[in-house]
Amino acid sequence: MRIADFELERYFARWEFAVRHLLCASDLEGYPMTELLALADAETRGLWHDLRLGYTESSGHPLLRAEIAALYETVAPDDVLVFSGAEEAIFCLLNVALGPGDHAIVTWPGYQSLHEVARAAGAEVSLHELHQSDGWALDVDRIRAALRPSTRLIVVNAPHNPTGMLPTHAEWRELLELCAGAGIQLFADEVYRFLEYDEADRLRAGADALPTGISLGVMSKSFALAGLRIGWLATRDRDLRERCAAFKDYTTICPSAPAEILSLIGLRARAAVLRRSHGIIAANLAVLDRFFAERPDVLTWVRPRAGSVGYPELTLGGRFAGWDADRFAAELVAAEGVLLLPGSRLGQPGNHVRLGFGRVDLPEAIDGLRRFADLR
Ligand SMILES: Cc1ncc(COP(=O)(O)O)c(C=O)c1O
Repeated sequence: MRIADFELERYFARWEFAVRHLLCASDLEGYPMTELLALADAETRGLWHDLRLGYTESSGHPLLRAEIAALYETVAPDDVLVFSGAEEAIFCLLNVALGPGDHAIVTWPGYQSLHEVARAAGAEVSLHELHQSDGWALDVDRIRAALRPSTRLIVVNAPHNPTGMLPTHAEWRELLELCAGAGIQLFADEVYRFLEYDEADRLRAGADALPTGISLGVMSKSFALAGLRIGWLATRDRDLRERCAAFKDYTTICPSAPAEILSLIGLRARAAVLRRSHGIIAANLAVLDRFFAERPDVLTWVRPRAGSVGYPELTLGGRFAGWDADRFAAELVAAEGVLLLPGSRLGQPGNHVRLGFGRVDLPEAIDGLRRFADLR
């Protein structure tokens, strides 16, 4: 297999642990281990204490699969397959679901593996480009127009990285009807699900909405436990699930034993975990709302409806005239140790940057951005 470099991950490999403030992280501030363990109930405390570090069940710990299934309406524990991160789940699913001669439609700009792995698996990929002028909205008519007889999969990430777009219930219904009517499988990357700012906006999960729909979830974002590297696929499509399980025998075989128990603790305590995540995001959005109101000369954005990332556009007036997002990000990190992600790392050179607001040092990062913008 030949696959292009994952541009965003290469950028993070260079910068993530070398800067003072990561203003483009997509995850939530990692949960402290002691605080997580304090949330354990009697059963999970016992599981943690008595844990043996052998191999684990390849499809995932039964209690963890049951807790994941409880996040959905129609998903049973056996419909869940646990992976080492959402990234491994994407890799296995796209390799299994697609091959030469197949066509897939994938939302873009977005998380590169969602289209890159599809291409590397031999499929033809049409990117469904979202436009700022439409509020980054999904355009189901354009998706319909892109269908081919060979279209096997529609890949939608919602809530969306990098824009924070969340389809309306009506748009989502239209997409589901399109998939059901055309007999095309939906792969819904829902790793930011549960981070809707208004709970009434939460969409039906792909795995619930369609008998062959596939939902992707992970502990990294809403649940603030990225270091556990636990993700999952949920689907009632048994054949696909079994083929994914067989493919995983060539990647990690089975999940990490400690990570599974810690994930179980986090999911059982999800009310408290999600309350903390929403608290961090709400506090940061208040800082950002003030900044965007005061400094349209620096950045403007379509305010996200969910998630922990947005995709603002640099205004690039005054002393920044003639710059692009790459130069802005490079000079900002050199001057202030504040990292933004230029759109070029998502395959979209120009004036957009990804801004993450899941970390507690966001106010300091915004102060650095303000100082940089005010330099003469
Ligand atoms: C949309 C999307 N899908 C999948 C992933 C992969 O998640 P993980 O790195 O936790 O495996 C990410 C991570 O940034 C993401 O933003």
